[in-house]
Amino acid sequence: MKAIVFNEYGPADVLRLQDVEDPEPGLGQVRIAVRAAGVNPLDHKIRSGAMREFMPVDFPHLPGTEASGVIDAVGDGVTGFAVGDEVFGRTSSGSYAERTLAEADRITRKPDALSWPEAAALPVATETAYRSLEELGVRAGETLIIHGAAGGVGTIAVQIAVARGVRVIGTASPGNHAHLRSLGATPVRYGPGLVDAVRAVAPDGVDAALDLSGQGEALEASIELTGGTDRVLEIANRAVSEPFGVRFSAGGAGEYRGGPAAAEAIELIAAGKLHILIHRCCPLAEAADAQRASETGHLTGKIVLTV
Ligand SMILES: NC(=O)c1ccc[n+]([C@@H]2O[C@H](COP(=O)([O-])OP(=O)(O)OC[C@H]3O[C@@H](n4cnc5c(N)ncnc54)[C@H](OP(=O)(O)O)[C@@H]3O)[C@@H](O)[C@H]2O)c1
Repeated sequence: MKAIVFNEYGPADVLRLQDVEDPEPGLGQVRIAVRAAGVNPLDHKIRSGAMREFMPVDFPHLPGTEASGVIDAVGDGVTGFAVGDEVFGRTSSGSYAERTLAEADRITRKPDALSWPEAAALPVATETAYRSLEELGVRAGETLIIHGAAGGVGTIAVQIAVARGVRVIGTASPGNHAHLRSLGATPVRYGPGLVDAVRAVAPDGVDAALDLSGQGEALEASIELTGGTDRVLEIANRAVSEPFGVRFSAGGAGEYRGGPAAAEAIELIAAGKLHILIHRCCPLAEAADAQRASETGHLTGKIVLTV
């Protein structure tokens, strides 16, 4: 099959489209003929070597952790899925490829209403958004600030929170404010004066804060606004969370909430309360360009590769 491969840590130029062996599904796994693969910041952090302390990889390495497509092989011990099923979910081999593997308990049937790119854009963003809101224990009637609210995770987190009756304040650069308003959030510009700007739009206070930006100033503002670290969660930058004594959620095996997250997302999509925004869709061969765009850190929604 054709797949994007890299043989060393480095800039996006290390990504190559190559012929590699098809992966074979093991116990509890399915193989998916990929139609689309989501691009996430984690992909370029792994490729550059920035994550090598926490997530070292062996070379050659195939990037990508989420996909949509059609099951074309089923491993032993899999029940509930068969060849021909249209699915989306987290993958356990590289998803920037014509075929990828997934644990059967990490995939979901694709609703007909979702396109392949839309379905491929869901797994990481919905699981992260759902897990973060659960960890923060955000309830209807409360006010939540989301730093970096216009990107892949933020666009989904804002909509789930709004649908649950939460008042959301989202930080973004001015060019993304109309987008945040369209999702039901109150936009605020990040940078100097953030705390005062938030107090001006939330005079009754802020109950909880989710940081998707990985900036120390976002955590500092969050602690000031919520009155402590109890209801502040960092997911973008582990190193910045420690000096502030703020919890970091990495989504490891014990924390992973993919099943209920996908179920809630499908329900909200059917009710017209969750819209998936694709920042850019490009062919597999343009994976390096896609990662360069992701690396700018200023997306509105998600980047997706089509296969
Ligand atoms: N721990 C986990 O489980 C987990 C899971 C998924 C993702 N993540 C991490 O979470 C982060 C966000 O992921 P994503 O997919 O949403 O990324 P993304 O699509 O690249 O979006 C990043 C957003 O951050 C905003 N931003 C940039 N600089 C900012 C600043 N100084 N202050 C506030 N906002 C700023 C950008 O908005 P503007 O263009 O408006 O500046 C952009 O919309 C990444 O670091 C990713 O690796 C962690």
